Amino acid sequence: MRKKTIRTGIVGAGFAASFHFESLKKVHCAEAEVVGVFAADGPQAAAYAAQRGIRAFDSLEELLEAVDVVHVCTPPVAHEPIAVAALERDKFVICEKPLTGYFGDGTDAFDGDEFDKQIALDAALASIERIRAAEAASKARLLYAENWVYAPAIQKEREIIEKTGAQVLWMHGEEAHSGSHAATYGFWKFSGGGSLIGKGCHPQTAALYLKVVEGRARDGRPIRPKAVSARTHALTRTAAYRDEGHIRCDYRDIEDFSMMHIVFEDDTIATIFASDVVVGGIHNWLEVVANNHRTVCNINPVPAVQTYNPVEKNFADIYVVEKIGTKQGWSCPSPDEDWFTGYPQEMEAFYRCVAGGVAPESDSRLAADAISTIYSAYVSAQKGGTEVPVKAF
Ligand SMILES: NC(=O)c1ccc[n+]([C@@H]2O[C@H](COP(=O)([O-])OP(=O)(O)OC[C@H]3O[C@@H](n4cnc5c(N)ncnc54)[C@H](O)[C@@H]3O)[C@@H](O)[C@H]2O)c1
Repeated sequence: MRKKTIRTGIVGAGFAASFHFESLKKVHCAEAEVVGVFAADGPQAAAYAAQRGIRAFDSLEELLEAVDVVHVCTPPVAHEPIAVAALERDKFVICEKPLTGYFGDGTDAFDGDEFDKQIALDAALASIERIRAAEAASKARLLYAENWVYAPAIQKEREIIEKTGAQVLWMHGEEAHSGSHAATYGFWKFSGGGSLIGKGCHPQTAALYLKVVEGRARDGRPIRPKAVSARTHALTRTAAYRDEGHIRCDYRDIEDFSMMHIVFEDDTIATIFASDVVVGGIHNWLEVVANNHRTVCNINPVPAVQTYNPVEKNFADIYVVEKIGTKQGWSCPSPDEDWFTGYPQEMEAFYRCVAGGVAPESDSRLAADAISTIYSAYVSAQKGGTEVPVKAF
């Protein structure tokens, strides 16, 4: 049977737009035809388009007219308007994480350190409602690009939970490295927060997903979050911080360390760390402690290959692993980092949904619960870690 051709557009021409394009080449279930790109940075979009032989569009509206699916690869502040505009035109949306958030009051003076985080929670919940209402009124769907859900390690754990009827008692996990590359990261008004949302959303959403899996397997009822307590810190902005050049430290008004402790409806728990202060490459993992097994899901590094290199320059043109500070000594060069991270698998699943209506594992409801929990965690952190209830969607 001939594969369905799906016309695709990309919004944003930076880091995420690049790995989306690479993953699109690996979609098997349909013919994903990348028509073009639109980005606020016109020259960047033109260069991105020229490199890939696609068209650079002058406006979002023109791009939307020409495609069936749009990939939202912009900073979080732009996710809601782009997603809603696409859904209103019955175009499928593949939206990068985090789905949405609160991005300040629109003034230059806005300070992410100082404002009342309850305002952020209320605004983020309202934004979720608007996106979900647009989806409900649309013939298309929003597919939430949380790659951790599709990472092979998390999908293996899904199988273990489903086939053994496991009860997950405690999950603990982390996403950390030495600082995001994006220039807009570091400003609450663009990112909607710091490490808690930008990095914490990955292991947190995987943990929320595995409790959905557990409940669904047992009696068809997903188990959802009910409360959260959290702490946040800006370690590289303390007066005492000593910069030795290994960790990015130019953040304006965001935290660079966070810890959130989630309580689910069944009184089981998950503890998630996220930070921008960890050297030695990406440190992404989730450990699942269940009543009948224990699993460590390694997302990155994965020691499929372990290499000792005595001379830094010998590896000058060898890619080792994301955000590694040095290639000298022992490292775990990843034979296929995108695969272990879940990028091609999520794209395949999303195009299966677009082409054939197969429901995605990572949908707008999971995204909504993730954002609701994250902004409740910010309220908790402001109160020094007091438990705050979570609205589940
Ligand atoms: N899943 C992952 O592993 C992962 C990794 C990195 C980034 N991300 C997510 O991807 C998104 C983009 O991050 P990035 O690192 O690629 O950022 P980036 O700064 O590298 O690129 C952002 C792009 O968006 C464009 N842009 C900004 N505002 C726009 C608007 N209103 N309309 C159209 N284009 C606009 C910019 O011109 C730029 O081309 C973020 O939501 C981020 O959280 C996800």
